[in-house]
Amino acid sequence: MTGATPFATRELHAPGSAGDPWWRDAVIYQVYPRSWADADGDGIGDLRGIASRLAHLAALGVDAVWLSPFYTSPQRDAGYDVADHRDVDPLFGSLTDADALIARAHELGLRIIVDLVPNHTSSEHPWFGEALTAGPGSPERDRYHFRDGLGEDGSEPPTNWQSNFGGAAWTRVTEPDGRPGQWYLHLFDPSQPDLNWQNCDVRADFRSTLRFWLDRGVDGFRVDVAHGLVKDPTFPPFGTPPGGLLEVTSDAPFWDQDGVHEIYRDWRELLQEYSPERIMCAEAWVSPADRAARYVREDEFHQAFNFEFLDTPWLAEPMRDVIAGSLAASDAVGAPTTWVLSNHDVLRHASRLGLPQDEEPPNGIGPEDLQPDAALGLRRARAATTLMLGLPGGAYVYQGEELGLPEHTTLPDEARADPTFTRTRGAEKGRDGCRVPMPWTKGAPALGFNDTGAAWLPQPDSYADLAVDQQDGVPGSTLELYRQLLALRRERDLGRAGLAEVEGLGDEVLAYLATAPDGTRTLVVANLSPESIELPAGTRVLVASDELVEGGLPTDTCVWAEI
Ligand code: GLC
Repeated sequence: MTGATPFATRELHAPGSAGDPWWRDAVIYQVYPRSWADADGDGIGDLRGIASRLAHLAALGVDAVWLSPFYTSPQRDAGYDVADHRDVDPLFGSLTDADALIARAHELGLRIIVDLVPNHTSSEHPWFGEALTAGPGSPERDRYHFRDGLGEDGSEPPTNWQSNFGGAAWTRVTEPDGRPGQWYLHLFDPSQPDLNWQNCDVRADFRSTLRFWLDRGVDGFRVDVAHGLVKDPTFPPFGTPPGGLLEVTSDAPFWDQDGVHEIYRDWRELLQEYSPERIMCAEAWVSPADRAARYVREDEFHQAFNFEFLDTPWLAEPMRDVIAGSLAASDAVGAPTTWVLSNHDVLRHASRLGLPQDEEPPNGIGPEDLQPDAALGLRRARAATTLMLGLPGGAYVYQGEELGLPEHTTLPDEARADPTFTRTRGAEKGRDGCRVPMPWTKGAPALGFNDTGAAWLPQPDSYADLAVDQQDGVPGSTLELYRQLLALRRERDLGRAGLAEVEGLGDEVLAYLATAPDGTRTLVVANLSPESIELPAGTRVLVASDELVEGGLPTDTCVWAEI
Protein backbone atom coordinates (compact mmCIF):
# COMPACT_ATOMS: atom_id res chain seq x y z
CA MET A 1 0.00 0.00 0.00
CA THR A 2 2.99 2.31 -0.05
CA GLY A 3 5.58 3.04 -2.71
CA ALA A 4 5.88 5.08 -5.87
CA THR A 5 2.80 6.55 -7.53
CA PRO A 6 2.31 6.51 -11.30
CA PHE A 7 1.47 10.22 -11.36
CA ALA A 8 2.82 13.61 -10.32
CA THR A 9 1.56 15.12 -7.08
CA ARG A 10 1.68 18.52 -5.38
CA GLU A 11 1.67 18.56 -1.56
CA LEU A 12 -1.19 20.54 -0.02
CA HIS A 13 -1.32 19.45 3.59
CA ALA A 14 0.80 17.39 5.99
CA PRO A 15 -0.69 14.40 7.87
CA GLY A 16 -1.80 14.72 11.48
CA SER A 17 -0.82 12.22 14.10
CA ALA A 18 -2.53 9.38 15.91
CA GLY A 19 -2.70 11.41 19.13
CA ASP A 20 -4.69 14.31 17.62
CA PRO A 21 -7.83 15.32 19.57
CA TRP A 22 -11.17 13.95 18.36
CA TRP A 23 -12.54 17.20 17.01
CA ARG A 24 -9.81 17.74 14.43
CA ASP A 25 -11.32 15.12 12.16
CA ALA A 26 -14.83 14.68 13.60
CA VAL A 27 -17.91 14.27 11.43
CA ILE A 28 -20.73 16.10 13.18
CA TYR A 29 -24.40 15.65 12.29
CA GLN A 30 -26.70 18.65 12.59
CA VAL A 31 -30.12 17.92 14.03
CA TYR A 32 -32.72 20.63 13.53
CA PRO A 33 -34.90 19.81 16.55
CA ARG A 34 -38.18 21.08 15.05
CA SER A 35 -37.91 18.64 12.20
CA TRP A 36 -36.12 15.47 13.20
CA ALA A 37 -38.43 13.35 15.35
CA ASP A 38 -41.60 14.28 17.19
CA ALA A 39 -42.40 12.16 20.27
CA ASP A 40 -45.46 14.09 21.48
CA GLY A 41 -47.13 14.28 18.07
CA ASP A 42 -47.79 18.03 17.99
CA GLY A 43 -46.13 18.41 14.60
CA ILE A 44 -42.92 19.94 15.97
CA GLY A 45 -39.96 17.72 16.79
CA ASP A 46 -38.72 17.46 20.37
CA LEU A 47 -35.89 16.25 22.59
CA ARG A 48 -37.56 12.95 23.49
CA GLY A 49 -38.04 12.30 19.79
CA ILE A 50 -34.36 12.97 19.15
CA ALA A 51 -33.26 10.67 21.99
CA SER A 52 -35.45 7.88 20.60
CA ARG A 53 -33.82 8.09 17.18
CA LEU A 54 -30.15 8.49 18.13
CA ALA A 55 -29.41 4.89 17.14
CA HIS A 56 -29.77 6.05 13.50
CA LEU A 57 -26.75 8.31 14.04
CA ALA A 58 -24.67 5.70 15.80
CA ALA A 59 -25.34 3.36 12.86
CA LEU A 60 -24.51 6.12 10.39
CA GLY A 61 -21.07 6.44 11.96
CA VAL A 62 -20.84 10.10 12.93
CA ASP A 63 -18.86 11.30 15.95
CA ALA A 64 -21.12 13.98 17.35
CA VAL A 65 -24.48 15.69 17.05
CA TRP A 66 -25.03 19.43 16.89
CA LEU A 67 -28.50 20.48 18.02
CA SER A 68 -29.93 23.76 16.73
CA PRO A 69 -31.55 25.81 19.57
CA PHE A 70 -34.19 24.21 21.77
CA TYR A 71 -34.23 26.97 24.42
CA THR A 72 -37.17 29.02 25.68
CA SER A 73 -38.25 31.11 22.71
CA PRO A 74 -41.28 32.69 21.09
CA GLN A 75 -40.04 30.95 17.90
CA ARG A 76 -40.09 34.00 15.66
CA ASP A 77 -36.89 32.75 14.05
CA ALA A 78 -37.35 29.05 14.75
CA GLY A 79 -35.62 29.23 18.14
CA TYR A 80 -32.73 31.55 17.17
CA ASP A 81 -34.65 34.15 19.18
CA VAL A 82 -33.80 33.02 22.70
CA ALA A 83 -35.77 34.27 25.71
CA ASP A 84 -33.91 32.11 28.27
CA HIS A 85 -30.56 30.59 27.32
CA ARG A 86 -30.62 28.28 30.32
CA ASP A 87 -33.95 26.51 29.90
CA VAL A 88 -35.74 24.30 27.39
CA ASP A 89 -38.81 25.54 25.54
CA PRO A 90 -41.87 23.42 26.47
CA LEU A 91 -42.31 22.86 22.74
CA PHE A 92 -39.15 20.74 22.83
CA GLY A 93 -39.45 19.28 26.35
CA SER A 94 -37.69 20.05 29.61
CA LEU A 95 -34.23 20.22 31.15
CA THR A 96 -34.78 16.64 32.31
CA ASP A 97 -35.29 15.64 28.67
CA ALA A 98 -32.10 17.49 27.74
CA ASP A 99 -30.17 15.60 30.44
CA ALA A 100 -31.63 12.29 29.23
CA LEU A 101 -30.71 13.12 25.63
CA ILE A 102 -27.11 13.97 26.57
CA ALA A 103 -26.85 10.76 28.61
CA ARG A 104 -28.29 8.60 25.80
CA ALA A 105 -25.94 10.16 23.24
CA HIS A 106 -22.94 9.49 25.47
CA GLU A 107 -24.08 5.90 25.98
CA LEU A 108 -24.01 5.49 22.20
CA GLY A 109 -20.56 7.08 21.94
CA LEU A 110 -21.91 10.29 20.39
CA ARG A 111 -20.84 13.72 21.60
CA ILE A 112 -23.33 16.56 21.92
CA ILE A 113 -22.76 20.10 20.65
CA VAL A 114 -25.40 22.71 21.51
CA ASP A 115 -26.08 26.03 19.84
CA LEU A 116 -25.17 29.30 21.54
CA VAL A 117 -26.85 32.46 20.27
CA PRO A 118 -24.86 35.42 21.64
CA ASN A 119 -25.44 38.11 19.01
CA HIS A 120 -29.00 38.85 20.11
CA THR A 121 -31.75 37.77 22.45
CA SER A 122 -35.45 37.47 21.83
CA SER A 123 -37.42 40.65 22.44
CA GLU A 124 -39.17 38.50 25.06
CA HIS A 125 -35.96 38.03 27.03
CA PRO A 126 -36.48 39.66 30.45
CA TRP A 127 -33.57 42.02 29.74
CA PHE A 128 -35.32 43.57 26.77
CA GLY A 129 -38.47 44.21 28.78
CA GLU A 130 -36.32 45.83 31.50
CA ALA A 131 -34.59 47.99 28.88
CA LEU A 132 -37.90 49.26 27.53
CA THR A 133 -39.19 50.10 31.00
CA ALA A 134 -35.99 51.69 32.28
CA GLY A 135 -35.81 54.26 29.48
CA PRO A 136 -33.01 56.12 27.67
CA GLY A 137 -29.56 56.28 29.23
CA SER A 138 -30.25 53.46 31.72
CA PRO A 139 -27.86 50.58 32.46
CA GLU A 140 -30.67 48.25 31.30
CA ARG A 141 -30.64 49.84 27.83
CA ASP A 142 -26.87 49.62 27.69
CA ARG A 143 -27.14 45.82 27.33
CA TYR A 144 -28.50 46.40 23.82
CA HIS A 145 -27.83 49.03 21.14
CA PHE A 146 -30.34 51.81 21.77
CA ARG A 147 -29.77 55.09 19.92
CA ASP A 148 -31.69 58.30 19.33
CA GLY A 149 -33.08 58.63 15.83
CA LEU A 150 -31.93 61.22 13.29
CA GLY A 151 -33.90 64.24 12.12
CA GLU A 152 -35.53 66.88 14.26
CA ASP A 153 -38.04 64.57 15.83
CA GLY A 154 -35.77 61.52 15.82
CA SER A 155 -38.03 59.75 13.37
CA GLU A 156 -35.21 58.57 11.08
CA PRO A 157 -33.27 55.42 12.01
CA PRO A 158 -29.79 56.12 13.49
CA THR A 159 -28.03 54.54 10.48
CA ASN A 160 -29.03 53.17 7.09
CA TRP A 161 -28.08 49.59 8.07
CA GLN A 162 -30.29 46.86 6.65
CA SER A 163 -31.43 43.72 8.45
CA ASN A 164 -30.33 40.35 7.05
CA PHE A 165 -33.95 39.37 6.85
CA GLY A 166 -34.92 42.48 4.84
CA GLY A 167 -35.99 46.00 5.90
CA ALA A 168 -34.24 48.40 8.26
CA ALA A 169 -31.98 47.04 11.00
CA TRP A 170 -33.50 49.51 13.51
CA THR A 171 -36.93 49.61 15.13
CA ARG A 172 -38.31 52.53 17.10
CA VAL A 173 -39.75 51.95 20.56
CA THR A 174 -42.46 53.71 22.49
CA GLU A 175 -41.06 55.17 25.72
CA PRO A 176 -42.71 54.45 29.11
CA ASP A 177 -44.40 57.88 28.92
CA GLY A 178 -46.11 56.89 25.65
CA ARG A 179 -44.01 59.05 23.34
CA PRO A 180 -42.18 57.68 20.26
CA GLY A 181 -38.65 57.16 21.47
CA GLN A 182 -35.28 55.59 20.77
CA TRP A 183 -34.38 52.97 18.20
CA TYR A 184 -32.77 49.58 18.82
CA LEU A 185 -30.52 47.60 16.50
CA HIS A 186 -31.47 44.18 15.14
CA LEU A 187 -29.30 42.69 12.42
CA PHE A 188 -32.01 40.04 12.04
CA ASP A 189 -35.73 40.20 12.88
CA PRO A 190 -37.10 43.05 15.08
CA SER A 191 -37.85 40.28 17.59
CA GLN A 192 -34.05 39.68 17.85
CA PRO A 193 -32.46 42.82 19.41
CA ASP A 194 -28.64 42.78 19.16
CA LEU A 195 -26.73 42.63 22.43
CA ASN A 196 -24.03 45.16 23.29
CA TRP A 197 -20.88 43.12 23.86
CA GLN A 198 -19.10 46.09 25.46
CA ASN A 199 -21.48 45.64 28.41
CA CYS A 200 -20.20 43.67 31.44
CA ASP A 201 -23.59 42.07 32.23
CA VAL A 202 -23.70 40.59 28.75
CA ARG A 203 -20.23 39.11 29.06
CA ALA A 204 -20.89 37.70 32.53
CA ASP A 205 -24.25 36.23 31.56
CA PHE A 206 -22.83 34.29 28.62
CA ARG A 207 -20.08 32.91 30.80
CA SER A 208 -22.84 31.57 33.07
CA THR A 209 -24.64 30.08 30.09
CA LEU A 210 -21.49 28.33 28.90
CA ARG A 211 -20.95 26.85 32.37
CA PHE A 212 -24.60 25.89 32.69
CA TRP A 213 -24.46 23.61 29.63
CA LEU A 214 -20.89 22.44 30.23
CA ASP A 215 -21.89 21.35 33.74
CA ARG A 216 -24.78 19.40 32.21
CA GLY A 217 -22.23 17.48 30.17
CA VAL A 218 -22.35 18.95 26.67
CA ASP A 219 -19.19 18.51 24.62
CA GLY A 220 -19.23 21.88 22.94
CA PHE A 221 -20.97 24.79 21.29
CA ARG A 222 -21.76 25.92 17.79
CA VAL A 223 -21.68 29.70 18.07
CA ASP A 224 -24.33 31.55 16.07
CA VAL A 225 -23.30 34.64 14.06
CA ALA A 226 -19.84 34.55 15.64
CA HIS A 227 -18.62 37.28 13.30
CA GLY A 228 -21.28 39.78 14.34
CA LEU A 229 -21.02 40.40 18.08
CA VAL A 230 -19.00 43.60 17.95
CA LYS A 231 -20.15 46.67 16.02
CA ASP A 232 -18.05 49.62 14.90
CA PRO A 233 -18.65 52.04 17.80
CA THR A 234 -18.91 55.00 15.44
CA PHE A 235 -21.95 53.44 13.73
CA PRO A 236 -20.96 54.67 10.24
CA PRO A 237 -23.38 54.54 7.29
CA PHE A 238 -23.28 51.33 5.27
CA GLY A 239 -25.18 50.37 2.09
CA THR A 240 -27.13 47.15 1.60
CA PRO A 241 -24.94 44.20 0.76
CA PRO A 242 -26.05 42.73 -2.57
CA GLY A 243 -26.06 39.07 -1.62
CA GLY A 244 -28.90 38.83 0.90
CA LEU A 245 -28.85 36.73 4.06
CA LEU A 246 -25.57 36.85 5.91
CA GLU A 247 -23.67 38.14 2.90
CA VAL A 248 -20.33 39.20 4.24
CA THR A 249 -18.60 42.22 2.90
CA SER A 250 -15.37 42.70 4.75
CA ASP A 251 -15.92 46.40 5.26
CA ALA A 252 -19.34 46.07 6.94
CA PRO A 253 -19.26 47.91 10.29
CA PHE A 254 -21.09 45.03 12.00
CA TRP A 255 -19.26 41.98 10.61
CA ASP A 256 -15.86 40.58 11.48
CA GLN A 257 -14.73 43.46 13.68
CA ASP A 258 -11.41 42.80 15.41
CA GLY A 259 -13.04 43.11 18.83
CA VAL A 260 -14.83 39.76 18.51
CA HIS A 261 -11.65 37.79 19.03
CA GLU A 262 -11.07 38.72 22.65
CA ILE A 263 -14.51 37.33 23.49
CA TYR A 264 -13.57 33.95 22.06
CA ARG A 265 -10.21 33.94 23.80
CA ASP A 266 -12.06 34.41 27.06
CA TRP A 267 -14.45 31.54 26.27
CA ARG A 268 -11.62 29.26 25.21
CA GLU A 269 -9.99 29.79 28.62
CA LEU A 270 -13.26 28.94 30.30
CA LEU A 271 -13.66 25.76 28.22
CA GLN A 272 -10.14 24.74 29.16
CA GLU A 273 -11.20 24.35 32.78
CA TYR A 274 -13.26 21.35 31.69
CA SER A 275 -12.18 17.80 31.11
CA PRO A 276 -12.57 15.92 28.84
CA GLU A 277 -11.94 18.60 26.27
CA ARG A 278 -14.90 20.73 25.15
CA ILE A 279 -15.02 22.57 21.83
CA MET A 280 -16.50 25.57 20.03
CA CYS A 281 -17.31 25.91 16.34
CA ALA A 282 -17.80 29.34 14.75
CA GLU A 283 -20.61 30.21 12.42
CA ALA A 284 -18.61 33.02 10.86
CA TRP A 285 -19.61 33.94 7.30
CA VAL A 286 -16.26 35.59 6.71
CA SER A 287 -14.10 35.65 3.64
CA PRO A 288 -11.41 35.45 2.36
CA ALA A 289 -10.15 32.24 3.95
CA ASP A 290 -7.29 33.88 5.83
CA ARG A 291 -9.74 36.25 7.53
CA ALA A 292 -11.93 33.25 8.50
CA ALA A 293 -8.84 31.43 9.78
CA ARG A 294 -8.36 34.11 12.46
CA TYR A 295 -11.33 32.54 14.27
CA VAL A 296 -9.46 29.24 14.64
CA ARG A 297 -6.19 30.54 16.00
CA GLU A 298 -5.01 28.26 18.78
CA ASP A 299 -6.52 30.28 21.63
CA GLU A 300 -9.91 30.83 19.96
CA PHE A 301 -12.36 28.44 18.24
CA HIS A 302 -11.51 24.81 17.60
CA GLN A 303 -13.49 24.79 14.36
CA ALA A 304 -15.15 27.24 11.96
CA PHE A 305 -17.50 26.17 9.19
CA ASN A 306 -15.85 26.38 5.79
CA PHE A 307 -18.60 28.39 4.10
CA GLU A 308 -16.38 29.22 1.15
CA PHE A 309 -16.51 25.53 0.28
CA LEU A 310 -20.30 25.47 0.68
CA ASP A 311 -20.58 28.54 -1.54
CA THR A 312 -18.41 27.11 -4.32
CA PRO A 313 -20.21 25.97 -7.48
CA TRP A 314 -19.74 22.44 -8.80
CA LEU A 315 -17.02 23.48 -11.22
CA ALA A 316 -13.53 22.02 -11.18
CA GLU A 317 -11.41 25.13 -11.06
CA PRO A 318 -13.12 26.98 -8.20
CA MET A 319 -13.46 23.69 -6.30
CA ARG A 320 -9.76 22.93 -6.70
CA ASP A 321 -8.88 26.46 -5.59
CA VAL A 322 -11.12 26.46 -2.54
CA ILE A 323 -9.82 23.08 -1.35
CA ALA A 324 -6.17 24.11 -1.68
CA GLY A 325 -6.85 27.62 -0.37
CA SER A 326 -8.75 26.57 2.71
CA LEU A 327 -6.20 23.93 3.69
CA ALA A 328 -3.43 26.51 3.35
CA ALA A 329 -5.32 29.13 5.36
CA SER A 330 -6.18 26.81 8.24
CA ASP A 331 -2.72 25.18 8.23
CA ALA A 332 -1.22 28.64 8.63
CA VAL A 333 -2.85 28.87 12.07
CA GLY A 334 -2.50 25.17 12.92
CA ALA A 335 -6.25 24.48 12.73
CA PRO A 336 -8.20 21.78 10.91
CA THR A 337 -10.50 22.72 8.04
CA THR A 338 -14.18 22.04 8.71
CA TRP A 339 -16.05 21.14 5.51
CA VAL A 340 -19.78 21.61 5.07
CA LEU A 341 -22.22 21.43 2.15
CA SER A 342 -25.65 21.98 3.73
CA ASN A 343 -27.31 23.40 6.82
CA HIS A 344 -30.64 24.87 7.93
CA ASP A 345 -29.92 28.26 6.27
CA VAL A 346 -29.11 27.26 2.68
CA LEU A 347 -30.63 25.28 -0.18
CA ARG A 348 -30.00 21.58 0.36
CA HIS A 349 -27.02 20.63 -1.79
CA ALA A 350 -29.02 17.89 -3.58
CA SER A 351 -31.06 20.76 -5.05
CA ARG A 352 -28.43 23.51 -5.17
CA LEU A 353 -26.21 21.38 -7.40
CA GLY A 354 -29.14 20.70 -9.75
CA LEU A 355 -29.38 24.42 -10.61
CA PRO A 356 -27.21 26.24 -13.19
CA GLN A 357 -23.77 26.52 -11.59
CA ASP A 358 -22.86 29.87 -13.11
CA GLU A 359 -25.34 31.82 -10.95
CA GLU A 360 -25.66 32.51 -7.22
CA PRO A 361 -28.20 30.08 -5.73
CA PRO A 362 -31.43 31.74 -4.52
CA ASN A 363 -32.49 32.00 -0.87
CA GLY A 364 -35.30 29.46 -1.16
CA ILE A 365 -37.28 28.24 -4.16
CA GLY A 366 -41.03 28.49 -4.76
CA PRO A 367 -43.38 26.69 -7.16
CA GLU A 368 -43.10 29.44 -9.82
CA ASP A 369 -39.30 29.53 -9.74
CA LEU A 370 -36.87 27.60 -11.89
CA GLN A 371 -36.92 24.05 -10.49
CA PRO A 372 -33.67 22.18 -9.90
CA ASP A 373 -32.89 19.08 -11.97
CA ALA A 374 -33.48 16.53 -9.20
CA ALA A 375 -31.57 13.60 -10.74
CA LEU A 376 -28.56 15.75 -11.63
CA GLY A 377 -28.62 17.43 -8.23
CA LEU A 378 -28.65 14.13 -6.37
CA ARG A 379 -25.89 12.67 -8.52
CA ARG A 380 -23.69 15.70 -7.92
CA ALA A 381 -24.59 15.83 -4.24
CA ARG A 382 -23.45 12.24 -3.80
CA ALA A 383 -20.22 13.05 -5.64
CA ALA A 384 -19.66 16.27 -3.68
CA THR A 385 -20.16 14.47 -0.35
CA THR A 386 -17.81 11.68 -1.40
CA LEU A 387 -15.23 14.33 -2.25
CA MET A 388 -15.81 16.23 1.01
CA LEU A 389 -15.55 13.18 3.26
CA GLY A 390 -12.32 12.19 1.50
CA LEU A 391 -10.63 15.42 2.56
CA PRO A 392 -8.67 15.91 5.79
CA GLY A 393 -10.19 17.83 8.69
CA GLY A 394 -13.66 17.79 10.17
CA ALA A 395 -17.03 17.83 8.41
CA TYR A 396 -20.62 18.69 9.22
CA VAL A 397 -23.56 16.78 7.76
CA TYR A 398 -27.06 18.26 7.82
CA GLN A 399 -30.01 16.07 8.77
CA GLY A 400 -31.54 14.30 5.80
CA GLU A 401 -28.61 14.77 3.45
CA GLU A 402 -27.71 11.14 4.23
CA LEU A 403 -31.01 10.31 2.48
CA GLY A 404 -30.25 12.58 -0.48
CA LEU A 405 -33.21 14.77 0.46
CA PRO A 406 -33.92 17.60 -1.95
CA GLU A 407 -35.13 21.01 -0.90
CA HIS A 408 -38.92 21.32 -0.75
CA THR A 409 -39.24 23.65 -3.73
CA THR A 410 -43.05 23.84 -4.04
CA LEU A 411 -44.08 24.88 -0.52
CA PRO A 412 -47.17 27.08 -0.67
CA ASP A 413 -46.58 30.63 0.57
CA GLU A 414 -49.16 30.14 3.37
CA ALA A 415 -47.01 27.39 4.86
CA ARG A 416 -43.85 29.51 5.07
CA ALA A 417 -42.57 30.41 8.54
CA ASP A 418 -39.14 31.96 7.89
CA PRO A 419 -39.18 35.70 8.73
CA THR A 420 -37.12 36.41 5.59
CA PHE A 421 -40.20 35.56 3.51
CA THR A 422 -42.42 38.14 5.20
CA ARG A 423 -39.71 40.78 5.76
CA THR A 424 -38.80 40.75 2.05
CA ARG A 425 -42.51 40.61 1.10
CA GLY A 426 -41.94 37.29 -0.61
CA ALA A 427 -39.02 38.51 -2.74
CA GLU A 428 -36.95 35.85 -0.97
CA LYS A 429 -38.74 32.58 -0.35
CA GLY A 430 -36.48 31.88 2.61
CA ARG A 431 -35.19 28.81 4.33
CA ASP A 432 -38.25 26.67 5.07
CA GLY A 433 -37.58 24.35 2.13
CA CYS A 434 -34.54 22.83 3.85
CA ARG A 435 -36.28 22.53 7.24
CA VAL A 436 -39.07 20.10 6.39
CA PRO A 437 -39.57 17.14 8.81
CA MET A 438 -37.48 14.01 8.22
CA PRO A 439 -39.01 10.99 6.46
CA TRP A 440 -38.40 7.82 8.48
CA THR A 441 -41.02 5.35 7.25
CA LYS A 442 -42.88 5.31 3.95
CA GLY A 443 -46.63 5.08 4.40
CA ALA A 444 -46.58 6.04 8.12
CA PRO A 445 -48.20 9.26 9.44
CA ALA A 446 -45.96 12.22 8.54
CA LEU A 447 -43.59 9.58 7.11
CA GLY A 448 -42.76 8.39 10.63
CA PHE A 449 -41.87 11.85 11.98
CA ASN A 450 -44.55 11.17 14.63
CA ASP A 451 -47.66 9.02 15.16
CA THR A 452 -50.27 11.68 14.47
CA GLY A 453 -49.42 12.90 10.97
CA ALA A 454 -49.09 16.52 12.12
CA ALA A 455 -46.13 18.41 10.62
CA TRP A 456 -45.25 22.09 11.04
CA LEU A 457 -44.20 22.15 7.40
CA PRO A 458 -45.72 19.75 4.87
CA GLN A 459 -43.40 17.09 3.40
CA PRO A 460 -43.11 16.88 -0.41
CA ASP A 461 -44.29 13.68 -2.16
CA SER A 462 -40.73 12.85 -3.16
CA TYR A 463 -39.77 12.24 0.50
CA ALA A 464 -41.75 8.95 0.76
CA ASP A 465 -39.39 6.94 -1.42
CA LEU A 466 -36.38 8.52 0.28
CA ALA A 467 -37.49 7.55 3.81
CA VAL A 468 -34.94 5.79 6.01
CA ASP A 469 -36.79 2.44 5.81
CA GLN A 470 -36.69 2.58 2.01
CA GLN A 471 -32.91 2.96 1.94
CA ASP A 472 -31.79 0.93 4.92
CA GLY A 473 -29.78 -2.07 3.68
CA VAL A 474 -30.40 -1.20 0.02
CA PRO A 475 -27.11 -1.32 -1.87
CA GLY A 476 -26.46 1.89 -3.78
CA SER A 477 -28.92 3.96 -1.70
CA THR A 478 -27.67 7.32 -0.49
CA LEU A 479 -27.99 6.16 3.11
CA GLU A 480 -25.78 3.13 2.46
CA LEU A 481 -23.32 5.35 0.57
CA TYR A 482 -22.98 7.65 3.61
CA ARG A 483 -22.56 4.66 5.94
CA GLN A 484 -19.89 3.21 3.71
CA LEU A 485 -18.07 6.53 3.35
CA LEU A 486 -18.07 7.17 7.09
CA ALA A 487 -16.86 3.66 7.90
CA LEU A 488 -14.06 3.81 5.31
CA ARG A 489 -13.11 7.33 6.37
CA ARG A 490 -12.53 6.08 9.88
CA GLU A 491 -10.81 2.85 8.78
CA ARG A 492 -8.41 4.66 6.46
CA ASP A 493 -7.98 7.64 8.79
CA LEU A 494 -8.82 10.10 6.03
CA GLY A 495 -9.62 12.90 8.47
CA ARG A 496 -6.02 12.92 9.69
CA ALA A 497 -4.40 12.19 6.33
CA GLY A 498 -1.94 14.36 4.48
CA LEU A 499 -3.18 15.52 1.11
CA ALA A 500 -1.53 15.97 -2.27
CA GLU A 501 -3.14 17.10 -5.48
CA VAL A 502 -2.73 14.56 -8.27
CA GLU A 503 -1.87 16.13 -11.58
CA GLY A 504 -2.43 15.00 -15.13
CA LEU A 505 -5.95 13.54 -14.98
CA GLY A 506 -7.48 16.51 -16.79
CA ASP A 507 -8.43 20.08 -15.99
CA GLU A 508 -11.95 19.17 -14.98
CA VAL A 509 -10.96 16.27 -12.77
CA LEU A 510 -10.23 16.76 -9.08
CA ALA A 511 -7.82 14.14 -7.85
CA TYR A 512 -6.10 13.85 -4.48
CA LEU A 513 -3.82 11.37 -2.82
CA ALA A 514 -4.59 11.10 0.90
CA THR A 515 -1.87 9.54 3.04
CA ALA A 516 -2.88 8.57 6.56
CA PRO A 517 -0.44 8.89 9.48
CA ASP A 518 0.22 5.10 9.20
CA GLY A 519 0.99 5.40 5.47
CA THR A 520 -2.35 4.06 4.15
CA ARG A 521 -2.98 5.71 0.82
CA THR A 522 -6.35 6.56 -0.68
CA LEU A 523 -6.92 8.14 -4.05
CA VAL A 524 -9.94 10.46 -4.21
CA VAL A 525 -11.06 11.30 -7.74
CA ALA A 526 -14.07 13.41 -8.75
CA ASN A 527 -14.90 13.76 -12.42
CA LEU A 528 -16.53 17.11 -13.20
CA SER A 529 -15.79 16.88 -16.92
CA PRO A 530 -18.50 16.01 -19.45
CA GLU A 531 -16.65 12.80 -20.46
CA SER A 532 -16.05 9.53 -18.68
CA ILE A 533 -12.39 9.13 -17.62
CA GLU A 534 -10.05 6.21 -16.93
CA LEU A 535 -8.73 5.79 -13.42
CA PRO A 536 -4.93 5.51 -13.08
CA ALA A 537 -3.52 2.00 -13.57
CA GLY A 538 -3.20 -0.07 -10.41
CA THR A 539 -6.14 1.46 -8.54
CA ARG A 540 -8.81 -0.61 -6.83
CA VAL A 541 -12.08 1.20 -6.20
CA LEU A 542 -13.27 1.13 -2.58
CA VAL A 543 -16.43 3.19 -2.91
CA ALA A 544 -18.08 5.11 -5.74
CA SER A 545 -20.74 7.81 -5.49
CA ASP A 546 -22.49 6.21 -8.50
CA GLU A 547 -21.96 3.18 -10.70
CA LEU A 548 -18.85 3.04 -12.82
CA VAL A 549 -19.38 2.35 -16.49
CA GLU A 550 -17.07 -0.22 -18.09
CA GLY A 551 -14.44 0.55 -15.49
CA GLY A 552 -14.47 4.27 -16.34
CA LEU A 553 -15.48 7.11 -14.03
CA PRO A 554 -18.53 8.88 -15.51
CA THR A 555 -19.35 12.60 -15.24
CA ASP A 556 -20.32 13.86 -11.78
CA THR A 557 -19.00 10.79 -10.01
CA CYS A 558 -16.42 10.56 -7.24
CA VAL A 559 -14.51 7.48 -6.09
CA TRP A 560 -12.12 6.51 -3.37
CA ALA A 561 -9.57 3.93 -4.49
CA GLU A 562 -6.68 1.99 -3.10
CA ILE A 563 -3.37 2.50 -4.83
C1 GLC B 1 -27.69 32.14 12.14
C2 GLC B 1 -28.61 30.95 12.12
C3 GLC B 1 -29.87 31.35 11.41
C4 GLC B 1 -30.50 32.47 12.20
C5 GLC B 1 -29.54 33.63 12.36
C6 GLC B 1 -30.03 34.58 13.41
O1 GLC B 1 -27.25 32.48 10.90
O2 GLC B 1 -27.97 29.86 11.53
O3 GLC B 1 -30.75 30.28 11.29
O4 GLC B 1 -31.66 32.91 11.55
O5 GLC B 1 -28.29 33.21 12.78
O6 GLC B 1 -29.88 34.00 14.67
